[in-house]
Amino acid sequence: KTEPRTRQLFASMISHIHDFIRENKVTVDEWMLSVDLINRIGQMSDERRNEGILVMDVLGVESLVDAITFDVEHEEPAAGADSAGLTKSCIIGPFYRENSPVYKNGESIIQKELPGGDTAVVGGYVRSSDGSPIEGAKVEVWHTAPNGLYEQQDPDQPDYNLRGTFYTDKNGFYEFIGLRPTSYPIPFDGPAGDILQLLDRHPYRPGHIHFLVSAPGHRRLITQIFDARDEYVENDSVFAVKNELVVNFEACKDDRAAYQVQYDVTLPSEE
Ligand code: DHB
Ligand code: FE
Repeated sequence: KTEPRTRQLFASMISHIHDFIRENKVTVDEWMLSVDLINRIGQMSDERRNEGILVMDVLGVESLVDAITFDVEHEEPAAGADSAGLTKSCIIGPFYRENSPVYKNGESIIQKELPGGDTAVVGGYVRSSDGSPIEGAKVEVWHTAPNGLYEQQDPDQPDYNLRGTFYTDKNGFYEFIGLRPTSYPIPFDGPAGDILQLLDRHPYRPGHIHFLVSAPGHRRLITQIFDARDEYVENDSVFAVKNELVVNFEACKDDRAAYQVQYDVTLPSEE
């Protein structure tokens, strides 16, 4: 039995596609080019490369879906109620991997030094929307090497380099050592890159660190933090930056790293 939601989505999608074709008088040649593009997206994709997400992202689809799903409800708290103060979500992007190595708080996710990166201590408190600390929250983080590649894209990096799983202590605290992220181009040697080129757009994303934070009784949060000093912070090729997610990397106060940043996370309770 087809779900009503499925029926509605297909009916609406079909009618929008038909309108698009009528409005633009799409020709057979143009239609064949789109089929070819779709096929190439599939042919390029494997466990290491998710070209489907990349193409959706340069079209702004994933960031719109994220905003529609999570942002509106945060915007205007009911009159008299406290703002929930929930941490903003962000797109997951194409490079998440499950089961990254579990580290102890304060440990480094850098398995191999590559030229050009500055180290950074990143940590903060994970709290419930009532302000109470969450012990045992799972904090998964991942970011690129200074060459702009995630570990699975790069034969020169060990498996799971610059990825890690951390658990908050009884104060809700997590902390890890990684790198201050650098801006880099998304892979542009496929359909996503073709689209960028057709539209005269650059492929760069501002430096960012991905987070996936989950805890029992709470809705999981997928987000990213962005370096305020990055030249692409206002010009992200996949439209994912939200002001609340822009952070300042400051000089580290101890000798563990070059920079430090505190990033606290508030998770909504599950209804
Ligand atoms: C995209 C997202 C990322 O986080 C990234 O590192 C590269 C590409 C994307 O949305 O396509
Ligand atoms: Fe990323």
